[in-house]
Amino acid sequence: MTNTLYTQHLTTLLQRYHSALNQFELDAIIVAAGAPSYYFDDDNSHPFKPYANAQQWLPFDLPANSFIVIKRDKPELIWPVSEDFWHLNPAIPEGEWQQHWQITPTRDDSWCQALPTRQAIIGPVSVAGLSHHEALATWLNFDRAIKTPYEITCIKQASVKAAKGHNAAKQAFLAGASELEIHLAYLQATQQDATHTPYPNIVALNEHAAVLHYEQKQTERPIRPLTLLVDAGATHNGYASDITRTTATLNDDFYALVEDMEELQHTIAQRAVAGTDFIELHQQTLHGIAHLLLRHRICSLSMEEQLEKRVPHHFFPHGLGHLLGLQVHDVAGKQTTALGTTHPAPEEHPFLRMTRTLDEHMVLTIEPGLYFIPTLMDRMKAKVRGHGCDVRKINEFMPYGGIRVEDNIVVGVEGVRNLTEEAFREIQ
Ligand code: GLY
Ligand code: MN
Ligand code: MN
Repeated sequence: MTNTLYTQHLTTLLQRYHSALNQFELDAIIVAAGAPSYYFDDDNSHPFKPYANAQQWLPFDLPANSFIVIKRDKPELIWPVSEDFWHLNPAIPEGEWQQHWQITPTRDDSWCQALPTRQAIIGPVSVAGLSHHEALATWLNFDRAIKTPYEITCIKQASVKAAKGHNAAKQAFLAGASELEIHLAYLQATQQDATHTPYPNIVALNEHAAVLHYEQKQTERPIRPLTLLVDAGATHNGYASDITRTTATLNDDFYALVEDMEELQHTIAQRAVAGTDFIELHQQTLHGIAHLLLRHRICSLSMEEQLEKRVPHHFFPHGLGHLLGLQVHDVAGKQTTALGTTHPAPEEHPFLRMTRTLDEHMVLTIEPGLYFIPTLMDRMKAKVRGHGCDVRKINEFMPYGGIRVEDNIVVGVEGVRNLTEEAFREIQ
């Protein structure tokens, strides 16, 4: 990655923060990375993830207890120094980034004394004398949806790393590995542990693929491996990728359904250009699912009848996608203005995390799914009169669990850049 990309990124962030200084009549904004948090009644801490609005400023993983101070001059990085001999004291990374920063190593809160009176802090910690400012955080979150070229490059790097993991996971699966072994193959290939995976890996064999957030990892190898669904990402400078692939072992009806889902996902992803209403795109995906249910003789109703009876909703119960960045489910997906007005998910699509109209340089996931979830199949059979579904066929598909295909894309004016497809191509 070139230093120019980072320098441009810094310029954009400074513009955004300077406009926030004006908007809220402040002379300084302090962004706290946060402090380690602990399991209840325990001295073991959770893996540390810095507050995204702090991490956004620097091209390396920010340590706990660091702070960013933005005034109208050079940005300042407050770097924690301690005498703690139990833990490694993080060293200040070398690099060209340093020329843009005033770096203040500190053992205590004395750096606060030099702050102007009109200041506000955002982030997960309280510092004596500094005032928290929710509206300021909301204001800054809104612009985070639009990624700079530096941020897009970070997500791309995270995608390349994750693509290597997905290939390794698939190989392990085809060799008969257990969920845990596949998970370990993924971690090995991406060189990550729980501190760096952006969310707990979903490694689901067979019917476990129908559990949307399946996080267990069975140690037994499957007697009859049918399906592998891996939903797993990686991070680069704090930026996440979030990729799902579904692999089937047999050349059968389920395999044909996987192929058609891949095509549907590709078609929908191509439509995510600037100006698109994401709720409408979600609706189009439900049409696509209805088409697949008809084509694969899972449901005999016309697409219109299926949609009217909400049949596809039982097979695809989650949202089409979400903003992606420093957080996997990045902030402000439903925020319509910097001041904090929101567009809630419509009642008929309650799990949609993104309701904003797409803008150039937004990065988001496109992740349609089609699952045979026992509780939802039972609910449909019980509640949807004349559902038109072939129950025998559904029962045959049940041991395969389901399908999700998830790519990470950059919204453009003329077209869409698919970072995930690029990443898989590059590592071939
Ligand atoms: N990995 C969580 C999600 O796809 O949203
Ligand atoms: Mn996702
Ligand atoms: Mn995912």
